[in-house]
Amino acid sequence: MKPPIILMGEVPLADRKALDARYRVLSAGTWPDPAAMTAEMAQAQVLAWRGHGRLDAAIMDLLPGLRLIANFGVGFDAIDIPAARARGIAVTNTPDVLSGEVADLTVGMMLALARDLTGGQDWLRSGRWASDGPYPLQRRMHGKRAGIVGLGRIGIAIARRLEAFDMPVSYWSRQAKPDQPWRHVGDLELLARESDYLVVALAGGPQTQGLVTRRVIEALGPEGTLVNISRGTTVDEGAMLDCLEDGRLGWAALDVFLNEPSIDKRFLALKNVHLQPHVASATVETRAAMADLWIANIAAHFDGRPLLTPV
Ligand code: 8YV
Repeated sequence: MKPPIILMGEVPLADRKALDARYRVLSAGTWPDPAAMTAEMAQAQVLAWRGHGRLDAAIMDLLPGLRLIANFGVGFDAIDIPAARARGIAVTNTPDVLSGEVADLTVGMMLALARDLTGGQDWLRSGRWASDGPYPLQRRMHGKRAGIVGLGRIGIAIARRLEAFDMPVSYWSRQAKPDQPWRHVGDLELLARESDYLVVALAGGPQTQGLVTRRVIEALGPEGTLVNISRGTTVDEGAMLDCLEDGRLGWAALDVFLNEPSIDKRFLALKNVHLQPHVASATVETRAAMADLWIANIAAHFDGRPLLTPV
């Protein structure tokens, strides 16, 4: 008999097939909805979780059999971890396998913004190259100063890539990381003041909520670029929009927002941004690696082996 697992969130067909091959998959929709929980689900030990809706104590209490929440993604800010711990529920995530991918997109967005790659292509496609002449000059990226906010696995992957662009790299984190070669700056506002690009690579959640304040954004200033590939919550989004609109902040490259996917409409009127729809890990290769790790954690639970990547 296949053990039952609860699946929440949208899953590509290949991943669904991999789960179906081993488990009796009880689908609970795309959002944590108490009405979607059945008596059969209440007995299941595993919740395979793929989404950004809030997974809180109220949902956990509807699932008394639960022993593991397997999160698809490195960020687990949507899950109330203390509530899970208090109920003896383990949580796993999918770290490492996506770090390089997220770092690639970060550099791509920075270059797209500095060199206006989309504007240049539009110029060519619309025939303006022939009618109006060369595209206006853009800005250099290499050699500029980078400040990384949060030097975890993803922050390190970004720092390594930016070094290859001859960018002096400094970072902010609560504790200095003496085993890393880059300069630690303990004051985030100071790091912003000393950076041309401030790249936010923090974990989401209550500890980092609004860490990039209005003051930090103003310290980065009219010649500065804010890059966020972490979570929309880490930045004071209203302040960032104000500063982008009136020029107190030069530019922003963003893959994450508050209220995804219904982001603040003010973003759409801005010319000094490069925006992506939360796709930093979204390649065929990386999503397959994430799914493998996601499923391997579930298998470890049922086999009674140690979890591969517990939170
Ligand atoms: C998501 C992400 O997992 O890993 C993370 O924390 O933000 C993404 O890779 C992706 O949106 C799928 O939910």
